[in-house]
Amino acid sequence: MDQSGTLDALLQEERVFRPLPRVLAEANVTPQRLAEDMARAQEDYLGYWEDAAEELDWFKKWTRVLDDSNPPFYKWFTGAKCNIVFNALDRHITSPNKNKLALIWEGEAGDTRKLSYYELYREVNRFANALRAQGVGRGDRVVLYMPPLPETVIAMLATAKIGAVHSVVFGGFSAKALRERIADAQARLVVTADGFYRNGRVVNLKAIVDEALAGREAACVETVVVVHRATMQADMTEPRDVWYADLVRHEKPESPTEVMEAEDTLFLLYTSGATGTPKGVVHTHGGYMVGVHHTIRNVFDIKPTDIFYCTADPGWITGHSYAVYAPLLAGTTMVMYEGHPLYPQADRVWSIVERHGATILYTTPTLIRMLMRFGKEYPRKRDLSTLRLLGSVGEPFNPEAWVWLFKHVGRSECPIMDTWWQTETGMFMISPLPVTLLKPGSVTKPLPGIEADVLDEAGNPVPPGKGGQLVIKKPWPAMFRNLYNAPERYVETYWTKYPGMYLAGDVARKDEDGYFWIQGRSDDVLVIAGHRIGTAELESAFLAHKAVAEAAVIPVKDKIRGEVAKAFVVLNEGAEEGPELVKELKEHIRRELGPVAVVKAVEFRRELPKTRSGKILRRILKAEETGEAAGDVSTLED
Ligand code: WTA
Repeated sequence: MDQSGTLDALLQEERVFRPLPRVLAEANVTPQRLAEDMARAQEDYLGYWEDAAEELDWFKKWTRVLDDSNPPFYKWFTGAKCNIVFNALDRHITSPNKNKLALIWEGEAGDTRKLSYYELYREVNRFANALRAQGVGRGDRVVLYMPPLPETVIAMLATAKIGAVHSVVFGGFSAKALRERIADAQARLVVTADGFYRNGRVVNLKAIVDEALAGREAACVETVVVVHRATMQADMTEPRDVWYADLVRHEKPESPTEVMEAEDTLFLLYTSGATGTPKGVVHTHGGYMVGVHHTIRNVFDIKPTDIFYCTADPGWITGHSYAVYAPLLAGTTMVMYEGHPLYPQADRVWSIVERHGATILYTTPTLIRMLMRFGKEYPRKRDLSTLRLLGSVGEPFNPEAWVWLFKHVGRSECPIMDTWWQTETGMFMISPLPVTLLKPGSVTKPLPGIEADVLDEAGNPVPPGKGGQLVIKKPWPAMFRNLYNAPERYVETYWTKYPGMYLAGDVARKDEDGYFWIQGRSDDVLVIAGHRIGTAELESAFLAHKAVAEAAVIPVKDKIRGEVAKAFVVLNEGAEEGPELVKELKEHIRRELGPVAVVKAVEFRRELPKTRSGKILRRILKAEETGEAAGDVSTLED
């Protein structure tokens, strides 16, 4: 759906769904508790977050909850010492969780692996020792280019355990994208797999790593650890490349957990920006663990018996926060699936829910729209009665798909938590709780401790029903602390438009009840199937093709993926327009950026609309596309 289409549908949406009495009585956060939390967060905002921090174990407590002496470089729980892995693993080993399942993993071919907290702990320790033996230590960057495998979780935790910094690069990204991220992070070690299964085929990941490391920019990498997953010959370059199994074989299953400062970096995760190269979003041990732990407990209402199935790949923030760290911090059992959600047929997601008895399913509108096409017979054929809560993230949830999920998957009983948040926020920010009255398509209200608003260009709150910029008015524990190697960009992108407030880059509106409705990005970032990709990256990939002289990319609507890219291209002299070239350009983009970057259409132009100073006016192209007014065109060149 395009922006305006979504908006129309949302503006007409008037249905409300009340929580069932069972949910009201049993939720971790009852209506009464919610009212108390709201009041507490209002009166004593720092006390509220301090209480949340008290729920976890610290080697040493903080001297200050929030240090805001140098905004926007905020610090949380300063003076404290901790390690997120102590809370995610170590402490469970001396608790009744020791022999509980931490991870149920399912391969695309149907093979499964199950690890208890104790088993996961031992595996993490062995790999932590192996990393130390490779000379990796505190502060060193480790890039993980991995499919969803148990070893992906193990490698993330082992890296954090020894105080090193992980940077997971989504396995669907290209060699070029991987190289760029390795170079920016100056990673010493890369963990990858020989391949993995996706849609019945083997994807040769190691070959992509080799291509990425062939560039001089990636000379920082000393070691590549290769997990054996798929039956294929990996080209091993000695002594750089080592098999994971060989590396851990003789390592002990005990390993000390590094004592970190609360503010020490836990991970970098790159995300697309409106301009330039991807941004390395920096998250820390202390505040991040407090934020994700608190929010999974409240929003997903985690109980000791839950089986939590999150469909996100660990390569995205959702995978980091709510498929790895938060579930483990909360001592729950998570379900991870390796392959394609439609393989071998359209009931795969439902069969995973059935076979593992998932109680919570956290997914995306794109996936629901994809599955909806196949009809309600698919979920109906499976026993989904274990489900008690549903969640969504990544893009506006069109009410039609919301209601389909609610009825045909959730038996009109399971509340849907439509969670708004970002790579930068680290944790849920605007989201219902199970006891919230739901309106399909709305992310409802900011969570306790979060102050959000919608502002006009002058910085005034907009009246109900009007669109504006979504901002967060106070710092929060799991907030990112900086952009790696780019503090000016951090200040400029997020903290300059409205001084003292965080600019999310989304357009939203509030209704009469104070409910938030997210409409999409306000900057030049596309959200394709819930994945962010910058017009700048797409355009520079087009420009890298010899036939292309100029390129402008805009988002256009797509029934399934929400948004996809459309490109307007001016060709170089001698290049021949036609379907052949369109096909070639699409393939070129896929090679440059990976399958995430879906280009639906390429249109050839003699010239592109530009300002007098030469900047491309994408706004005009968008207006042509949607038939809407282009707004101010006074800067347009004749
Ligand atoms: C969008 C994903 C509508 C939004 C956790 C945001 C959403 C971007 C929602 C962040 C939602 C995320 N409803 N839109 N519930 N959640 N978005 O960094 O545009 O991959 O800015 O983080 O996704 O994407 P990111």
